Amino acid sequence: MSSRTVIRGGLVVTASDEIHADVLIEDGRIAALAASGTPAAEALTAERVIDASGKYVIPGGVDGHTHMEMPFGGTYAADTFETGTRAAAWGGTTTIVDFAIQSVGHSLRSGLDAWHAKAEGNCAIDYAFHMIVSDVDQKALKEMDLLVEEGVTSFKQFMAYPGVFYSDDGQILRAMQRAAGNGGLIMMHAENGIAIDVLVEQALARGETDPRYHGEVRKALLEAEATHRAIKLAQVAGAPLYVVHVSATEAVAELTRARDEGLNVFGETCPQYLFLSTDNLAEPDFEGAKYVCSTPLRPREHQAALWRGLRTNDLQVVSTDHCPFCFSGQKELGRGDFSKIPNGMPGVENRMDLLHQAVVDGHISRRRWIEIACATPARMFGLYPKKGTIAPGADADVVVYDPHAEQVISVETHHMNVDYSAYEGRRITGRVETVLSRGVPVVTEREYTGRKGHGVYTPRATCQYLN
Ligand code: URP
Ligand code: ZN
Ligand code: ZN
Ligand code: ZN
Repeated sequence: MSSRTVIRGGLVVTASDEIHADVLIEDGRIAALAASGTPAAEALTAERVIDASGKYVIPGGVDGHTHMEMPFGGTYAADTFETGTRAAAWGGTTTIVDFAIQSVGHSLRSGLDAWHAKAEGNCAIDYAFHMIVSDVDQKALKEMDLLVEEGVTSFKQFMAYPGVFYSDDGQILRAMQRAAGNGGLIMMHAENGIAIDVLVEQALARGETDPRYHGEVRKALLEAEATHRAIKLAQVAGAPLYVVHVSATEAVAELTRARDEGLNVFGETCPQYLFLSTDNLAEPDFEGAKYVCSTPLRPREHQAALWRGLRTNDLQVVSTDHCPFCFSGQKELGRGDFSKIPNGMPGVENRMDLLHQAVVDGHISRRRWIEIACATPARMFGLYPKKGTIAPGADADVVVYDPHAEQVISVETHHMNVDYSAYEGRRITGRVETVLSRGVPVVTEREYTGRKGHGVYTPRATCQYLN
């Protein structure tokens, strides 16, 4: 039996268009669009009608960077796939791409199997995986080919965290060469971790133990240096490169220069770098620990370069790097030694709203909002046009967004499994009202109507964003 829904009277916003249109959904997919008020629109009939007049009708968000249940610093990220994907849905995100982890001494396969086991049957929205490669040997290189074939088409490497996820330049070059051959996309955590560890040791020896020193030792220059080195290694390998969580002006400059040379080099930033700063890391009574993540928050001056990069397409994607640790019991592991604070911040629920606020504030256009949060991440990670747009044939992952509603972000009202909000008290104009995942209502007029297990694993094609 077919199930039909029509969303009437909204402003449909995609990365390329804004049109007042009615949207017909049939069997979980977008079936048709017709200009509102025309006979063609009136001919779209359905059992269920959603009135979107005065609202936006946008593609569900695609968050290309999350870490549900990630082991880090002796603890685990506090959101499970169940709680994290539910919170994502509340915030208008309908697809996440999470990072499966190869631990040192183990295969990619065993890491991927472990992540499938965590996610399967637990997600409220659809999900896919990248693979963190932390032990590049001949076996891992061969496994990369197999993973690409089965839909895990991107691989994160770390120039930071020596002894944990770190790869040296030789390992990075080999993985990049492999990706050049198999169509994979290398995602780089670009910070010079060897140099940072020296500065950490020296800071602690001077008694500089507070959270704010996390920002001081992880220098912008060491992000820029690693970004530059990653670009050159990718160029030598002939591979595309995607730099994750870009935070420093100097790193954006490296990406801009590479792109001006025509290289397939891409950059992602995150809301925390656009809206927060070292002022937060310096909050008293250890509160700064709430904002410890890597790359670190930067002085406020860096934000202008990030917004500019988003406007000029030198940065293409905004993901959350959602990796929440509770203040109580988890962030507190680093009292007296900032290097022991688990790295990561919550945000999967807040991204679409914060970026809508950026539209209201004039940083980006409405279509650019959808491009950086939905369409480009879908293209970058091989999910387009199934995800990231509203067009016939696409999955009916659709958000009815009220651009006039006012809300205040708070731990009191959020749905992430973490005991603080990084954006506590921030006023946002705009709010998610209804969310459909493959046509199924997950949030209905601000009520949760989803269920764990609705979300399915979604294998990906290779990068669809290359020059
Ligand atoms: O601080 C962060 N970003 N934690 C998550 C792991 C990573 O490097 O992305
Ligand atoms: Zn209008
Ligand atoms: Zn990282
Ligand atoms: Zn991350």
